[in-house]
Amino acid sequence: MYILGIETSCDETGVAVYHSERGLIAHSLYSQVLMHSEYGGVVPELASRDHIRKLVPLIKQCLSDGQVKTTDIAGIAYTAGPGLMGALLVGAATARSLAWTWRVPAIAVHHMEGHLLAPMLEPNPPRYPFVALLISGGHTMLVQVENIGRYTLLGESLDDAAGEAFDKTAKMLELGYPGGPKLAELAKRGKERFDFPRPMTDRPGLDFSFSGLKTFTLNTLNNTDKTDQDKADIAYAFQKATAETLTIKCKRAIRQTGLKTLVIAGGVSANQAIRAHLQEMARQQKVQLYFPRLDFCTDNGAMIAYAGCQRLLAGQQEDLQIFARPRWPIEELLSV
Ligand code: KG4
Ligand code: ZN
Repeated sequence: MYILGIETSCDETGVAVYHSERGLIAHSLYSQVLMHSEYGGVVPELASRDHIRKLVPLIKQCLSDGQVKTTDIAGIAYTAGPGLMGALLVGAATARSLAWTWRVPAIAVHHMEGHLLAPMLEPNPPRYPFVALLISGGHTMLVQVENIGRYTLLGESLDDAAGEAFDKTAKMLELGYPGGPKLAELAKRGKERFDFPRPMTDRPGLDFSFSGLKTFTLNTLNNTDKTDQDKADIAYAFQKATAETLTIKCKRAIRQTGLKTLVIAGGVSANQAIRAHLQEMARQQKVQLYFPRLDFCTDNGAMIAYAGCQRLLAGQQEDLQIFARPRWPIEELLSV
């Protein structure tokens, strides 16, 4: 069964075709990064308008790349939330309309469930149950995963998400948007010089807080001459503190749940320093660690097609409504 996946929750238009037995057939992505970089961040209205321009051509391209006919498509999965309302509505309305025209079901997918399941697209996927650390631009969550749709939130960020902290810190260092990858690049030239705090690691619990790191970064920066080397050293210290904080919490989550499989997903999981810290911890703790491939850490249509396919295979059905929910707790999802 071929499933078309559509992702438009933020600043990436992603489309993919996934086959229930043959796996990923084709995927295409258009990133709006250049357009938003002029403004230093995502402009929601511009994001929606660009999704309208790009989505249908991307669907056509993806079907043609995968040599899949519209009549082969058995269902359409679309990101229904969380995300920007206007951007979500473009994907939701397009998916629902195509599903109506092609006489196939459409299924609303939770964006973070998409991220969480992205490692399932790899040749050696994790087995349930596992602990998942989801680190994206909008969310930071530790989730106990029993199966698809059976999620217990173990901890989350009380303020900024990890990706948001990277982006805001990068802005302070005048690196532009999107900050995460740029900060990671600059940190490569940084040296061990500043010691940043590891927020909320000195008390029990699995919640996170990253907003204090911003203030610490600003104060540290203002106490230097703001040379390129100063900035690189600050980027290095920020990244190290974030990586260690995430690693400490993952180790704690593993101890608390007794699970020996850890999945890391979401845009920030592309960060090599964070991957290295987690890999070292996993080796010491004898934990199996899984990441999506780099392309599928950040937003993409493949993870949405996969999640929708599993739900459709399990017989999940929906009314003919255009469903978009900017805020949508992952624990409200139904198991399949
Ligand atoms: O998952 P994602 O594509 O979108 C959301 O669902 O939010 O994540 C985007 C976030 C941004 O904050 C971006 O700066 C961050 O992921 N990011 C990174 C890296 N690549 C993307 N952060 C740190 N290091 C990276 N290499
Ligand atoms: Zn995302």
